[in-house]
Amino acid sequence: MKTPAALDARGLRKSFGSLVVTDGVDLALEEGARHALIGPNGAGKTTLVNLLAGSLAPDGGTVRLGGRDVTRFDAARRAREGVARTFQINQLFDRLAVFDNVALAVAERNAAARSLWRALSSHPRIVSRVNELLDAFGLADVAGEPLGHLPYGRQRLVEIAIAIAGEPRVLLLDEPAAGVPSGETQRILDVVGGLDPRIAVLIIEHDMDVVFRFAREITVLVDGRVYARGTPAQIAAHEGVAEVYLGARSAVPSHG
Ligand SMILES: Nc1ncnc2c1ncn2[C@@H]1O[C@H](COP(=O)(O)OP(=O)(O)OP(=O)(O)O)[C@@H](O)[C@H]1O
Ligand SMILES: [Mg+2]
Repeated sequence: MKTPAALDARGLRKSFGSLVVTDGVDLALEEGARHALIGPNGAGKTTLVNLLAGSLAPDGGTVRLGGRDVTRFDAARRAREGVARTFQINQLFDRLAVFDNVALAVAERNAAARSLWRALSSHPRIVSRVNELLDAFGLADVAGEPLGHLPYGRQRLVEIAIAIAGEPRVLLLDEPAAGVPSGETQRILDVVGGLDPRIAVLIIEHDMDVVFRFAREITVLVDGRVYARGTPAQIAAHEGVAEVYLGARSAVPSHG
């Protein structure tokens, strides 16, 4: 029997008033997937991620995680079931130290109550896991700094570290390098490129060089629908996709 996909969305629909933003989208991520979601501004990419993460409830369709129907689970419950995400605009605790931000996420993973996290953040098992994550993300030197004092690129790294702290099976990255000065983006891309190969990763990214380096599969979303899907080589050779991107922020590279 075939193992069920890590994440499998079928026929997702979402409208805001009369505006149909997600119009019957199917998307499956196998274990270890490296999948890029691309498309013009307003195509519905963030909305789709919100539907997958449970931040938005769909008007129709289903979301399965490892075969289990989680369509009616909210974001917190889906997070406990292994779906982590980062936001296009980051949402963290600015005045809290980097260490404490990550400790909070690790403590949550350890089924700890939020109200107890201060005590738990000094628990040896949590401390060692937080330090492991900070090392892996090149954040050890700023562990004691309030998050808000860090350059924006490193704040985004903390955000990814927090997502990983939950030991997700599925990671949804909505433009992880958006708004980051060009000198700081490489570090983020290195981290994304070095993620645990067992995690199924979906990334929304406008930089086509990044997309083509990272992804093994690409879905092109246009007006809330899947316009094209395929390997990077197939998408690069797709005439319609090149047209969609004509005049957009970056062109699809002509090489595969
Ligand atoms: N909460 C909302 N209420 C009303 N309209 C919304 C809402 N969220 C998104 N939209 C609209 O839905 C459409 C798709 O938005 P979405 O943010 O999903 O696009 P996107 O592909 O992520 O765009 P971008 O590349 O600019 O991030 C847009 O027209 C947007 O204005
Ligand atoms: Mg978006």
